[in-house]
Amino acid sequence: MPAQILDGNAIAASLRLEIAATVQARTEAGLREPGLAVLLVGDDPASQIYVRHKRRDCQQVHFKSDVRELPGDTSQQQLFAMIDELNEDPSIDGILVQLPLPEHIDPSAVLERIDPHKDVDGYHPYNIGRLALRQPVLRSCTPKGIMQLLEHTGTAIRGLDATIVGASNHVGRPMALELLIAGCTVTTAHKFSKDTRSHVARADILVSATGKPGLIRGDWIKPGAIVIDVGITREASGHLVGDVEFEVAAERAAWITPVPGGVGPMTRLALLQNALQSAESRDP
Ligand code: GUN
Repeated sequence: MPAQILDGNAIAASLRLEIAATVQARTEAGLREPGLAVLLVGDDPASQIYVRHKRRDCQQVHFKSDVRELPGDTSQQQLFAMIDELNEDPSIDGILVQLPLPEHIDPSAVLERIDPHKDVDGYHPYNIGRLALRQPVLRSCTPKGIMQLLEHTGTAIRGLDATIVGASNHVGRPMALELLIAGCTVTTAHKFSKDTRSHVARADILVSATGKPGLIRGDWIKPGAIVIDVGITREASGHLVGDVEFEVAAERAAWITPVPGGVGPMTRLALLQNALQSAESRDP
């Protein structure tokens, strides 16, 4: 039987309504709307599109958004000064510095400059450390969004075998920590893994986040698995494709995310949820 589609666009849209309702209740109670600051350095076209989406998402849920587009030759010190100012600004609950940054700026130093309680990306070592200790505060957005996709399937995931392919700081590693908290038996495969196929084949839950189109062959998928494809690559033809060979995988999986329209909208949703959480913790 072909898989059911995990429609991230639809799930995110319904959860965005909940955020908008909470914001409305806050403003009716005399509380301020959550404020999200987005800093973009340089003119990378993909980043400009992502930032435009974030501005629109904020409008939809009635957040204040403060988008600052800075020239590509902005110095690290200038960026630090802006982050310091936003860290102190009581109308700002979340600060996001769009990645990638130009070569002359150290991304780790920049991310660590953000007040961890305004780190709505969940990238700060404080937030990753809290997640590792099972005491999450602000959770990394893509894994947080994926956990909500898994919840949507209605599957009891405690005790299931989960394989993550890709061990990046922003997706693979926090994803492993999330699934561990949820009680899964977690395997992380990565570019040095000798037999990725065997790890994929025993996965009840597969999360692939490599950005390598077609790396995960459809016939590797365990029948009945939940398949989450984080990869999104633009082919020469202009088509967006994931890591997983979708058509074949969809014949075996119970649930599968489409690319695009699966994980991406849930990452954006989780960013809004984090900004709201941050506002509520500051101004309950
Ligand atoms: N660049 C691409 N996606 C993201 C994201 O989710 N957060 C940040 N900070 N930069 C990105």
